[in-house]
Amino acid sequence: MNQTVDQTPRVPVHVSIIMDGNGRWARERGLERVKGHFEGVKSVRACTEAAVEAGVKYLSLFAFSEENWNRPAQEVSSLMGLMMKSIAEECATLMENGVRFRVIGNFERLSPTLREAIAGLEEKTRDNSRMTLVIFLSYSGKWDILQAAKALAADYSSNPSGLEELSLEDFDKYLSTAGIPDPDLLIRTSGELRISNFLLWQAAYTEFIFSDVLWPDFGKERFREALAEYARRDRRYGKVK
Ligand code: IPE
Ligand code: IPE
Ligand code: MG
Repeated sequence: MNQTVDQTPRVPVHVSIIMDGNGRWARERGLERVKGHFEGVKSVRACTEAAVEAGVKYLSLFAFSEENWNRPAQEVSSLMGLMMKSIAEECATLMENGVRFRVIGNFERLSPTLREAIAGLEEKTRDNSRMTLVIFLSYSGKWDILQAAKALAADYSSNPSGLEELSLEDFDKYLSTAGIPDPDLLIRTSGELRISNFLLWQAAYTEFIFSDVLWPDFGKERFREALAEYARRDRRYGKVK
């Protein structure tokens, strides 16, 4: 192959999604916001299937931010209930499709029951290798960087001069996403043009796609279109081609 041709792999290894717009989807139909979250689960299924079919290795979904704890208690508890329900219902499909399940976030405020359910599904699916589905739950990018900095400070407290040798790759290992490649593509639905404290460090060179479609309407076809758009992008990483 000609060396000057862009050799970026055409299928992203890691696709990340800020699933936004469930509340507006429901309101537009005169329904309670929580109905939008329920409908959003269908899009999660569809995109997971499409990602597996396309050969994506990591699909990560921003399901609940640390800031989302500030929503009305009833919405928060519905969302946690939905998480419990999905864990119970999706196990068989994940096993059939060879999908490993992981959850990342600040678990301090999660109920012990939910934590157990998460750990159970992570354990059951741990040997699945076709794709990893990562759910970001009670996550924020600043929390992640701060917890990494704290763990790093503790590790180096007796050896401060070791910090001089610290590389970016070493720092990566302290993040909650250690071992997961940075996202190649980040999709945000619902027309909002912001990152809302999601993957701040990890999205340094990620390609962004902002879609006006509300998350429950996103589905398989839109996901495929996003992959096609990614394939047309030219990733330069600051270099000249
Ligand atoms: C995304 O939909 C789901 C979560 C943040 C939990 P929203 O609930 O933010 O829906 P909108 O943005 O209010 O429409
Ligand atoms: C971001 O959506 C968080 C998730 C999708 C889980 P929000 O709806 O919470 O973000 P803002 O408030 O519009 O920035
Ligand atoms: Mg929103």
